[in-house]
Amino acid sequence: MADAADLLDAGERLGAEELRALQLERLRGSLRHAYTNVPFYREAFDKAGVRPEDCRSLTDLSLFPFTTKADLRENYPYGMFAVPRDRIRRLHASSGTTGRPTVVGYTDNDLSVWSDMVARSLRAAGARPGDTVHVAYGYGLFTGGLGAHYGAERLGCTVVPASGGMTARQVQLIQDLGPQVIMVTPSYMLTLLDEFERQGVDPRSTSLKVGVFGAEPWTEQMRREIEERFGIDAVDIYGLSEVMGPGVAQECVETKDGLHVWEDHFFPEIVDPITGEVLPEGEQGELVFTSLTKEAMPVIRYRTRDLTRLLPGTARMFRRMEKVTGRSDDMVILRGVNLFPTQIEEIVLRTPAVAPHFQLRLTREGRLDALTVRAEARPGASPEDREAAARAIASGVKDGVGVSVTVEIVEPETLERSVGKIRRIVDLRRG
Ligand code: DLL
Repeated sequence: MADAADLLDAGERLGAEELRALQLERLRGSLRHAYTNVPFYREAFDKAGVRPEDCRSLTDLSLFPFTTKADLRENYPYGMFAVPRDRIRRLHASSGTTGRPTVVGYTDNDLSVWSDMVARSLRAAGARPGDTVHVAYGYGLFTGGLGAHYGAERLGCTVVPASGGMTARQVQLIQDLGPQVIMVTPSYMLTLLDEFERQGVDPRSTSLKVGVFGAEPWTEQMRREIEERFGIDAVDIYGLSEVMGPGVAQECVETKDGLHVWEDHFFPEIVDPITGEVLPEGEQGELVFTSLTKEAMPVIRYRTRDLTRLLPGTARMFRRMEKVTGRSDDMVILRGVNLFPTQIEEIVLRTPAVAPHFQLRLTREGRLDALTVRAEARPGASPEDREAAARAIASGVKDGVGVSVTVEIVEPETLERSVGKIRRIVDLRRG
């Protein structure tokens, strides 16, 4: 990594004070832009009794109202746009589990900043100009594929736009085209792993050196599993369509200690998910973003629902966010105990007789919710191994999370495989 420091862009070279000054200037600009051009923000600010000029320091941002996914839905499709329609160069949409999707738009400049941020992210991940990047995030309305694609081109890489699906062909392409970098959801990487094994190809024999994984929560255990099985470095990339897409924050390969938030473009806060109060640095809560440079669709204090905490910078001067524990929407409350799928992932992945595939089934027994962890046996695991694995997972959950669950060890290759973002929770409760 001797060349890493030489490759930093101007934003990454800012000193802490320069950064704060730039953020304040951009923040005031963004508040003004939103207030002037988006009726929704004008109304919301007026109702809260604040004007863009009231933001005199970065902490004054807390005076401004939050924006939620419901606000974006209510203004579907174009209500949140701040520029005339002929300046919108591209649209994306996030699928959302219920109701209308959320549409987001980008100007030429927004697309350029996005490419710069993904290029910066890839560089932090260890990619270099001239590398070949296999993009297996889905192309289309989802921001993963195209976001990764243009960022990799911006860095000067050769892109293989594989998109998601056609898993056997992906394995072939990786062998034939010799990429150094793969960008894909961690759960689909496991599907690729199965396919390598099915084809009798050693996954450690490829040209891959680094994987840039995101779009869903994943744990340190999953990092170890992927790194060992493929013989690569695995780093985390974060983003969301409402704020931009992939490349809002990125983990550096030299430290692998959480994701540096590209704070010159996105201002993070952590708030109490219930009261909305801003929490002191280092405390866990809900991540909130304000865009600092977006033109087409500025977002002010957007509630991501992702739970994490902010930490000081290390490999970069920007603050880090810890790996996301989960979304508040994915939190299961079981007899008063909060549980996230990532907690189960940690336990399943350290249990030797089971494969790294699992599913959580929520049912209702009488008036109580119950959770069944379904995990897949590794091929060749004996009945005794399976029983021991079921006991180990149940007691791991009891000790680690504090709640009793049922564990079912199912046959190899029976749980549904991911081709993109995996859905861990199957909710069979009625009413
Ligand atoms: O998932 C953008 C993306 C694509 C990020 C490719 C990284 C790689 P959305 O579909 O709008 O955008 O979903 C955003 O996905 O609020 C998180 O809940 C989750 N998410 C994204 N990255 C991570 C990550 C893309 N690294 C939502 N860790 C976010 C945990 C993540 N969760």
